[in-house]
Amino acid sequence: MSERTRFGRFGGQYVPETLMAALDELQTAWLELREDNGFLDELRARQATFIGRPTPLYHAERLTEHFGGATIHFKREDLCHTGAHKLNNALGQAVLARRMGKKRIIAETGAGQHGVATATVCARFGLPCTVYMGAEDMRRQEVNVRRMRMLGAEVRPVSSGTATLKDATSEAIRDWVTNVRDTHYIIGSVVGPAPYPEMVRELQRVIGDEARHQYLASENTLPDTVVACVGGGSNSIGMFAGFVDDPSVELVGVEAGGLGVETGQHAAATVGGQAGVLHGSFSYILQDQFGQVLPTHSIAAGLDYPGVGPEHAMLAELGRASYVAVNDDEAVAAFKLCTRLEGIMPALETSHAIHHVGELAREMGPGARILLCFSGRGDKDMHTIESVSPTDMPVIGGPQ
Ligand SMILES: Cc1ncc(COP(=O)(O)O)c(C=O)c1O
Repeated sequence: MSERTRFGRFGGQYVPETLMAALDELQTAWLELREDNGFLDELRARQATFIGRPTPLYHAERLTEHFGGATIHFKREDLCHTGAHKLNNALGQAVLARRMGKKRIIAETGAGQHGVATATVCARFGLPCTVYMGAEDMRRQEVNVRRMRMLGAEVRPVSSGTATLKDATSEAIRDWVTNVRDTHYIIGSVVGPAPYPEMVRELQRVIGDEARHQYLASENTLPDTVVACVGGGSNSIGMFAGFVDDPSVELVGVEAGGLGVETGQHAAATVGGQAGVLHGSFSYILQDQFGQVLPTHSIAAGLDYPGVGPEHAMLAELGRASYVAVNDDEAVAAFKLCTRLEGIMPALETSHAIHHVGELAREMGPGARILLCFSGRGDKDMHTIESVSPTDMPVIGGPQ
């Protein structure tokens, strides 16, 4: 196995023999295209007119004031078309798949944001699209299921296991093994066998590159700390990519602590997992003493995955990035706080990172600077928020 497929001791290609030819074909096409000016020009043009890039850098003044500490900025990936960073990757892979002559697209989705992003690019390019989604996630993220169907995608429910992202990913891999000749699998995060983790990072690094440039232009300096939520790890690695070579910038990934890491009901693979193989890659995963993958829990469907991308495992082991876990109830409180103080409703995934940004801001104090990757918008989570804490928020300006 070549060095290119690894991040330190992590990564690799742990897949059935039938997929090796497809991975080689993808690797070759990707390595060629990433140097191809025609491909890069097409991607840049579509990022500008279809996604709406560059997304703004936003000074969260009222949250900064509320925490009374470090200055907080958001990189606004919620303003991407379809409402999250996921479209950066789906668009890039769809352009690649077209150039490879693939006729059909499949994807897995958790929160539905990656499924919607994939269904969107497939509608745009006229490609048939099948999205695998856990039955539990279809219930939690029902609006996104309707969006995918409206866009013309077939959504296939997956009822095995915990009926969440891991199970959907396993089904998508099964489909790919069967239909590998004409089908491209658009993986939604920096997980899976090589070249996916590197390719998805490169398609998401636009977040970090833009953010670094914008931050320097508006603040004349770099942030002290960059924070992002971590499911599989794509918004965070895209953001980190812009700053990983700046030793003064601390990188922090926020995982889903669920009901508390100590309860075992969580999805914090870096904080609470061990090295193992999942979905074709060697990384940190949640597993029992026999190597069986453990069921996970998070209120945020997009974080509810028992593994993390291999590059995160490497960054954690090197100590270049640190990882923390934030619980469901803390994320719900942060969702409400941000919505009311900034008029921006964050995705529940993002809300995990917002809670940690609050803690850090207090700790670091005035004069310090924090940059958050605001990975997506929270409209999709209205149902979930209302079901865990029905209208307990006072009307602004009304009786308190
Ligand atoms: C808004 C949002 N943020 C974060 C994530 C987590 O994924 P990743 O860690 O790949 O960015 C998801 C996944 O669905 C998401 O929808």
